[in-house]
Amino acid sequence: MNGTSSTTVGRDEAAAFALPERALAGVGSRPFGIYVHVPFCATRCGYCDFNTYTAGELGTSASPQSWMEGLRRELDFAAQMTGAPAVDTVFVGGGTPSLLGGDGLADVLGAIRSSFGLADGAEVTTESNPESTSPAFFDRLRAGGFTRISLGMQSAAQHVLKVLDRTHTPGRAVAAALEARAAGFEHVNLDLIYGTPGERDEDLDLSLDAVLSAGVDHVSAYALIVEDGTALARKVRRGELPAPDDDVLASRYERIDARLAEAGLTWYEVSNWARDDAACRHNLGYWDGGDWWGAGPGAHSHVGGVRWWNVKHPARYADQLAAGSLPVGGSEQLTAEDVHVERVMLTARLRTGLPVSELDAAEQRAAEEVVADGLLMREDDHLVLTARGRLLADAVVRTVLR
Ligand SMILES: C[S@@+](CC[C@H](N)C(=O)[O-])C[C@H]1O[C@@H](n2cnc3c(N)ncnc32)[C@H](O)[C@@H]1O
Ligand code: SF4
Repeated sequence: MNGTSSTTVGRDEAAAFALPERALAGVGSRPFGIYVHVPFCATRCGYCDFNTYTAGELGTSASPQSWMEGLRRELDFAAQMTGAPAVDTVFVGGGTPSLLGGDGLADVLGAIRSSFGLADGAEVTTESNPESTSPAFFDRLRAGGFTRISLGMQSAAQHVLKVLDRTHTPGRAVAAALEARAAGFEHVNLDLIYGTPGERDEDLDLSLDAVLSAGVDHVSAYALIVEDGTALARKVRRGELPAPDDDVLASRYERIDARLAEAGLTWYEVSNWARDDAACRHNLGYWDGGDWWGAGPGAHSHVGGVRWWNVKHPARYADQLAAGSLPVGGSEQLTAEDVHVERVMLTARLRTGLPVSELDAAEQRAAEEVVADGLLMREDDHLVLTARGRLLADAVVRTVLR
């Protein structure tokens, strides 16, 4: 990123990591979120490069118990450093949070309650993998104070799930969503991946039928990204699988948008659709430049223009906290230019759009050209991506910022 003063810090510096007064000013007067990263998976999906580990990869170096001890310590540090504002949104993500079980996840929320406290009406989400959920699991989460469930469905077609190395059956994600709703969760999300090698139009239709049969109020749909260093990337490089095709991805996106919109789920971010009032408040906080503390191995945080991230390995994470220091791997103070670039990149992807007043004269001229090309439209004092613009969102942002 342009003009960022980025540093990687050593152990002594991590012990000394502190937030400057100017970053702390106003904490608590803006929404405050907590992200908790659970770095465990039963197996690794071939497309995924998230910071997550199987039991075999960790051996005896780290465990859910050592992670939980570290997490409690980190949350206590975080509360001390920020003045413990009431938390508006919690998002437990991974990895596979559902591997902790209902009791383990209730302990995570208990630790946040005792270090920070939750604001009235807080949104509390956990990601879950369909195969590690059950009616009893959802009952426990609901009783423990969770308000929202996000399930990784990806596809309803068996052969697509196989290419993605998913271990659940095609029907399990919808069954899990129905169980979550029966347990009293009003807010349930299903994640889809589209453009997987071998996926046909009818496979996507099957997935959309399944999503809509689950009656969820939120859907995220991501084009498959072939991440460097993954098993999927190796297969594509060796020619065993074709890379996702841009034209196919575009037509699948249009199909997803049309089917979801018809069913009353409208887009509020390029990859996210929701019924009225069901947008994920936690993610909106990221996209709106809010404050959040990311706890857990490799988690990223942002408070008042300072961004930092934790060391990635669960053993190092737990060891540093046990030794009494925050496990900070690096930090950066965002410059005014960084903040501007990020705001343009993130708000342009939202249905609420990019505020024209935040663009300088040259950027406004560039944006007018994009409007003339039919990729942005003007709505009052905001610029909103058109349907075609959503397919080319990154290019739109590059043009406005050039
Ligand atoms: C990292 S997972 C964590 C949650 C959970 N373990 C799961 O698999 O659903 C969160 C979501 O990221 C998306 N994702 C991960 N890697 C991706 C990739 N290479 N391309 C597109 N989407 C990806 C998937 O939709 C997945 O549901
Ligand atoms: S996609 Fe989810 S289940 Fe698969 S490896 Fe990544 S985090 Fe784990």
